[in-house]
Amino acid sequence: MHPDFRAREQSYYGDIRAKYAGALDQFGDDLRSIFTPKGRQALRYRHMLEGLEFSSVLDFGCGTGLLKSYLDSTAPNVRYTGVDIVEGFVSLCQKKFAGTEFKHIRGVDDVPGGHDVVLIAGTFNMVPEGWSEGEYRDFVFDTLAALFDKANRYLVFDFLSEQVDYRQPTAFHPSYGDVARFISTRLSKRFEILQHYMPFEAAARAYKDQTITPGVYVFEDADA
Ligand SMILES: C[S@@+](CC[C@H](N)C(=O)[O-])C[C@H]1O[C@@H](n2cnc3c(N)ncnc32)[C@H](O)[C@@H]1O
Repeated sequence: MHPDFRAREQSYYGDIRAKYAGALDQFGDDLRSIFTPKGRQALRYRHMLEGLEFSSVLDFGCGTGLLKSYLDSTAPNVRYTGVDIVEGFVSLCQKKFAGTEFKHIRGVDDVPGGHDVVLIAGTFNMVPEGWSEGEYRDFVFDTLAALFDKANRYLVFDFLSEQVDYRQPTAFHPSYGDVARFISTRLSKRFEILQHYMPFEAAARAYKDQTITPGVYVFEDADA
């Protein structure tokens, strides 16, 4: 982890939180508040979660709670917890989904552990004002590493692809190589990069279980 990680975290939160909180004030419970006017969340979640075995999910950057709605209709027995740095999103979700845990966090240290999947959708795609892309990439990877430690089974996150024909000026498009190297050196030798469900976005899934069947050299549960 970068020695200045905590200071960077606060600088990042100041800029990004203000952007989302401003949009939420303006648009309320609407896709425009989470800067995803096209929606498509259900399709993302379906592919990000497909084939994984889990009974609990931590939604990092829960926004308006669209993952909670998706799970209610597809996997109602899954235990869900949503966290966000914007207080307004957390109170909105608490009203929408009474009895479900939503938590306002000030940093990654506030994120509760104990969930099979930690899922991060649409959350790390905007380089904050005054940051270089490299600084932001290091910050994102440090945050993802801390979140991987909190997951029981999988860390799943999406990102903007490098192979695109248009980039917004502050958008963050990490290279596949950087993502793969980061995961394989800092998280797990067992991972997937998914680039089959949308042309301009990708997702990665890192597995905690890396148990290998001795002598055969396959991941144990892949051999079942
Ligand atoms: C584009 S929205 C996506 C919301 C939701 N995940 C979805 O799929 O619709 C990004 C959300 O992440 C939150 N966010 C951004 N950076 C964050 C961070 N470091 N920790 C927690 N939440 C963060 C924002 O406040 C916003 O609610």
